[in-house]
Amino acid sequence: MKLAWELHCFAFIFMIVLLMQGCDASVLLDDTANFTGEKTAGPNSNSIRGFDVIDNIKTQLERQCPGVVSCADILSAAARDSVVALGGPGWNVLFGRRDSTTASLSAANSNLPSPASSLSALISSFSNQGFTANEMVALSGAHTIGQARCTTFRNRLYNDNNINASFASSLRPNCPTSGGDNNLSPLDSTPTNFDNRYYNDLINQRGLLHSDQELFNGGSADAQVTTYGSNSATFFRDFASAMLKMSNLGPLTGSSGQVRTNCRRTN
Ligand code: HEM
Ligand SMILES: *[C@@H]1O[C@H](CO)[C@@H](O)[C@H](O)[C@H]1NC(C)=O
Ligand SMILES: *[C@@H]1O[C@H](CO)[C@@H](O)[C@H](O)[C@H]1NC(C)=O
Repeated sequence: MKLAWELHCFAFIFMIVLLMQGCDASVLLDDTANFTGEKTAGPNSNSIRGFDVIDNIKTQLERQCPGVVSCADILSAAARDSVVALGGPGWNVLFGRRDSTTASLSAANSNLPSPASSLSALISSFSNQGFTANEMVALSGAHTIGQARCTTFRNRLYNDNNINASFASSLRPNCPTSGGDNNLSPLDSTPTNFDNRYYNDLINQRGLLHSDQELFNGGSADAQVTTYGSNSATFFRDFASAMLKMSNLGPLTGSSGQVRTNCRRTN
């Protein structure tokens, strides 16, 4: 669990479903509101929200069965269950991961992939973790759910050429050239469904992040985006297998690491 974007992936997906099932479901269903208050208080607010939920699960598990289920296993299972609950594919999560004794969850999560990345930067950053370009395109489909803060896509709204004009105008009021940094917009047009709409949005130049639109911008990933846009079964199959691969990347097992009592710190 030491890869920054592995955490990004697990923690965010996980958090979304819990918010939907909890009493705050409405915050995710309203795709244009300005959530500048409790939901996004600062740059780390996404991770803070996610970790609150993880803490609650962990507390309940520790009560029933102390010292057995690691935080890494909680995240892996929750990411899978969340995708399934939102209508996406399932995969087999193997259990028995142990938690790192060095990196803290929040420290690792502070280094998110840059939303300003080019296609070649995305390919090489995933390649450094052992993923092919095809797997990177499939994993990016996680942006079929959830939202992003204005600060992560402002530059795209005002400076990119490859953005659908009506899409850009619809987003600008909630993400002005200055201010509103924490205002949220959905990452695709159906942000609470796990489906292949993200890819169809890219085809219509409606990717929210610059990095999203890089996947369909006349480059080497275009054909795969087109395939996923017209064939959700293929996307689901590839997403599930890339997630399985991610969840099995160099886990700590046996006597390495520990089972944390509190996911926020080592024992
Ligand atoms: C391809 C490289 C990626 C980049 C550049 C990227 C970047 C981002 C950014 C900037 C946000 C908004 C965060 C914020 O507002 O603070 C975001 C949200 C999100 N990302 Fe990624 N991401 C990438 C890959 C992934 C992967 C591989 C997954 C999971 C498999 C993932 C899952 C999510 C989810 C579910 C959200 C929504 C979070 C929410 O609603 O709060 N991302 N991503
Ligand atoms: C969001 O903010 C914009 C600009 O501040 C405002 O015009 C709009 O009414 C707000 N929308 C909601 C749902 O609060
Ligand atoms: C802009 O978005 C609309 C609605 O999705 C779509 O019909 C249109 O083709 C898009 N324009 C471009 C240039 O992709």
